Amino acid sequence: MRKKMVAGNWKMNLGMAEAKDLTENILKECRSLSQDQLVVFCVPYIHLHTVADVIAQANHKQVKLGAQNCHDKQSGAYTGEISAAMLKECGVSHVIIGHSERRQYFHESNEFLKAKTNTLIAQSMQVIFCCGEPLEIRNAGTQNEYVADQLKESLFHLSAADLQGHITIAYEPIWAIGTGVTATTEQAQEMHFFIRGLLRAQYGNDLADKILILYGGSCNAQNAQELFANPDVDGGLIGGAALKAETFLPVIQAMN
Ligand code: 13P
Repeated sequence: MRKKMVAGNWKMNLGMAEAKDLTENILKECRSLSQDQLVVFCVPYIHLHTVADVIAQANHKQVKLGAQNCHDKQSGAYTGEISAAMLKECGVSHVIIGHSERRQYFHESNEFLKAKTNTLIAQSMQVIFCCGEPLEIRNAGTQNEYVADQLKESLFHLSAADLQGHITIAYEPIWAIGTGVTATTEQAQEMHFFIRGLLRAQYGNDLADKILILYGGSCNAQNAQELFANPDVDGGLIGGAALKAETFLPVIQAMN
């Protein structure tokens, strides 16, 4: 039995007071998480301390603090960047790497994401590694090859122990992100099964059966339960619906 995870990716949203209120309101309502369920708040850097304090006060072991990016270098002249070690000091355990918005707007390559992944593992941190195809690739029917290349080029150099110990994969088809067009439950399951198959071929059954594969892209209160019921969908990476307690809580509850 694999664990389940729901991670909220706030992206560049919410002010400080809103961040505090939202986290408090959600934590009040999710006391009944079981040991095999995890909730992660991936918040803007500037809100990490605020949200870390709220999580610490709730003293809830199944709730973790996440960031949305980090740099691959330890320190140095990289104006505007944040290192993995700095995030760790703030109480961050999980970092999203390779979100399609980082790939698209900040031109992050598979090679750069490989370097970031290595840095996070060296810091004993958890990576939520995003993959997913644009619409034209889906329309051409070559999404499997596209996603396979993303995973192979950024992750398949890792040892089985590092991959199993530090990586959660998030499949986020770009055409579903923020569009209200969710992948159908069949499309999600098909891709998750394919990704697990790649891991099985490369690393064997034990790893493939344990690794978490999240779905992201217009996942919300209405469709989370159906998506999470798929055998290879282990939870979700949630954007818009993570910004309000009334829309995020049902997604958390869909893990049950
Ligand atoms: P939406 O849930 O807003 O579609 O965003 C998904 C996402 O990009 C999460 O990382």
